[in-house]
Amino acid sequence: MSVPTITLTESDPTGIAVDALVVGTVQGPDGLALAPGAETVDSAFDGGLVDLLRLLGASGKADEVVKLPTRGAVAAKVLVAVGLGKPAADGGVSSEQVRRAAGAAARALSGTAQAASTLSTIDLAAAAQGTLLGAYAFTSYKSEPGDGPLGEMQLVTSDPAGQRDTLEEATAVAEAVRTARDLVNTPPNDLYPASFAERAAELGRQVGLEVEVLDETALREGGYGGILGVGGGSSRPPRLVRLRYRGENPKAKVALVGKGITFDTGGISLKPAPNMDEMTSDMAGAAAVVASVVLAARLKYPLEVVATVPMAENMPSGTAYRPGDVLTMYGGKTVEVLNTDAEGRLILADAIVRACEDQPDYLIETSTLTGAQVVSLGKRTAGIMGSDEFRDRVATFAQATGEGGWPMPLPEELRADLDSKLADIANVTGHRWGGMLAAGLFLSEFVADGVQWAHIDIAGPAFNTGSPWGYTPKGATGVPVRTIAAVLADIVANG
Ligand code: BES
Ligand code: MN
Ligand code: ZN
Repeated sequence: MSVPTITLTESDPTGIAVDALVVGTVQGPDGLALAPGAETVDSAFDGGLVDLLRLLGASGKADEVVKLPTRGAVAAKVLVAVGLGKPAADGGVSSEQVRRAAGAAARALSGTAQAASTLSTIDLAAAAQGTLLGAYAFTSYKSEPGDGPLGEMQLVTSDPAGQRDTLEEATAVAEAVRTARDLVNTPPNDLYPASFAERAAELGRQVGLEVEVLDETALREGGYGGILGVGGGSSRPPRLVRLRYRGENPKAKVALVGKGITFDTGGISLKPAPNMDEMTSDMAGAAAVVASVVLAARLKYPLEVVATVPMAENMPSGTAYRPGDVLTMYGGKTVEVLNTDAEGRLILADAIVRACEDQPDYLIETSTLTGAQVVSLGKRTAGIMGSDEFRDRVATFAQATGEGGWPMPLPEELRADLDSKLADIANVTGHRWGGMLAAGLFLSEFVADGVQWAHIDIAGPAFNTGSPWGYTPKGATGVPVRTIAAVLADIVANG
């Protein structure tokens, strides 16, 4: 998939000879106004740019794109005014506003060869990320690729030399998000446990990670009852992938775990047909942690990061596990399966126990785990559970990166509803109340004492079933790669 080339320029934006020049607009207290960076462009229009844009109906609201031919007023052929939305009380705009506007502009520029942007004078990293993420398109399965994304983007800055590292890091993070999106968007007939494991292993090898792949035989020998149970209904057997990065003088050991259900039919507790195709995204947590450990290596974080990634396809068949089965998980706990559609927690239990054997300081697990997450927090806000302090820390970064997330409790009283008449625990409660929290409580049973951990339920945020917005295309979003990257960077800085 082609990626726009991003370069830095010190040039005055009026003199850059490109097809399109992007400037920011805001919804100020008196209506439309120009964002910082557009000053000389406005002068080139004799100070009349705001009036002109108003005539064209511009308001400065987020996701608004208004194009006008420049007819020689500036060197660029077309001016693209993109809305940042309402500024804060002090007149400033946030990184996320810049990222979204840059993304909206990049989407509006698909098919354009050369562009430049002044959004980078507000926040260069956000402008770069927004451009790279907004220009993303997954066209591998199209016979006619169409317009193709934006070709080249020059970002205006007063200090290109001083901003080179910032650009490099922002680009690496955006690359990781794009990798996660590619994996999630790949359809389930091509991305199944063995092929997913092979792609994850290859990504790991490219950056020198230690790679371990357990196939069905190794899983049986190891006693991974959760992964084998869930994966048993499919003709395509399950896998457990481990990717290990060890940075120099690691400051902490971080375990990452992600749900890798390559397709979730529900199994014998079959899902209804409408929208079942969206369950191609049920491995988004796995994709995010694979991309994140690769990113940690690329950015040479002084950390030890190990991703433990269970992969299975949840299918109904003569060999499928049943409601009523009891599974013996890795580590020996037994689970009564009352609903085969609550499969994610079963493969995750095995993976969490395995990850905790390494005695990590922190464990971040992420999964498209419950429809209840979408009911309680909507499509764009992840539910974050875990040990109190670390949960809040992860939620802070989910919000800071603009990915969105909110801390949620693990109410003790729900635990009794997971009691099993037969086994140590059941995989579902007998009711619908607090379904996201009950799933979190189930997972908590498998986390070793003393490990600070967070569970990020991304059932809604991982996959955009609506229209594109900001830098978020239809389909895979790459959430929560940027949250994980920000938490890792914070652990590097603060322990
Ligand atoms: N993969 C689904 C959760 C999901 C739902 C993800 C919607 C994305 C969008 C998960 O495996 C599932 O089926 N969960 C059940 C749990 C229930 C049986 C307790 C659910 O949420 O209905
Ligand atoms: Mn399910
Ligand atoms: Zn699932």
